[in-house]
Amino acid sequence: MAGDRDLAVAFVRAWSAGATGPRTGWEVTAATGVRGLRLLHEGGAFDRFLLTEAHPAAARVLATNAAAYPGAVAEQADGRSAPARAAFDYVDIDPYGSPAPFVDAALAAVRPGGVLAVTATDMMVLAGVQRGAAQRRYGGRPVRGRLAPEGGLRILLAYLAREARRRSLAVRPRLAYVRDHYVRAYLEVTPAAAARGADPIGEIDPATWTGPGLGERGPYGPMWLGPLFDPTLVRAMRPPAESADERGTSRFLERLREEVEVDRPFYYEANGLARELSVPAPPSLATVLGALRSAGYRAGRTHARPEGFRTDAPRVEVERIVRALAVGR
Ligand SMILES: C[S@@+](CC[C@H](N)C(=O)[O-])C[C@H]1O[C@@H](n2cnc3c(N)ncnc32)[C@H](O)[C@@H]1O
Repeated sequence: MAGDRDLAVAFVRAWSAGATGPRTGWEVTAATGVRGLRLLHEGGAFDRFLLTEAHPAAARVLATNAAAYPGAVAEQADGRSAPARAAFDYVDIDPYGSPAPFVDAALAAVRPGGVLAVTATDMMVLAGVQRGAAQRRYGGRPVRGRLAPEGGLRILLAYLAREARRRSLAVRPRLAYVRDHYVRAYLEVTPAAAARGADPIGEIDPATWTGPGLGERGPYGPMWLGPLFDPTLVRAMRPPAESADERGTSRFLERLREEVEVDRPFYYEANGLARELSVPAPPSLATVLGALRSAGYRAGRTHARPEGFRTDAPRVEVERIVRALAVGR
């Protein structure tokens, strides 16, 4: 989690760069305040930051910690209700398990043009082990297996987009990722009327889907099929000077910078493809990426898996290229 807070600081610094005027933030489920206080202290964006925590013992420690930071306001409160007359530029939900109970209050509290950051750790649900619960909680049919975490992220994004629409708002991911045992997204929230382009929410039907194989038990979703990244923002993110995990954060950001060039739903893995195609000696990832690019496609590694790659080539082309590389070895 320390590395995840590094990313949060990096996000806030890049998001607020060049902005003028004071900004306010709210960490809805703050525990002892480590995340929110780092965002206030290192983010360079906020002049006031509210931190709420429901558990009395944690709230006492939170109050002590917050007292050392000018601009921090700690309250023992239930984050499922927005503070009266709230209008924050940045709202962060980082709970245990599902963020769903906090989403309504957070959307009510975020200012148009502001950012809603959301973590979900209920991966048993989002990644399809508990299918019924996914349908009930998030209104989507989850993906199982290798691509389940990204499927979970996209189902969560679709859920958040629908919740926003109920309030005549629209969301756009500026950064959304899967990591360890959780998914996290930073969403720009705007009035719905400002949203442009095709609806990014849809189902994936295995019969017509031309991307990486998701299995045959579809349709999957509805899920977010649009971009996960704002390339300009991601390129501007740097590990914070006071990083808890400088190396890990640097590597993660480096991978994201490659990934934003080919922000397509779901990814392949060279080894897995070779196995599926019964190719005896799998080509290296670098070789596959080079071959795809030589054939005129975009291709790049993903943060989601060390051997994973995204491409805009249709699956038949990816398979043809992997087979051809295996024959040529
Ligand atoms: C995962 S921890 C937060 C960690 C923190 N964001 C960080 O990065 O250090 C989740 C916290 O949410 C608190 N919580 C649970 N229900 C809550 C509620 N209804 N309102 C406010 N806080 C709540 C829990 O007591 C717990 O401290």
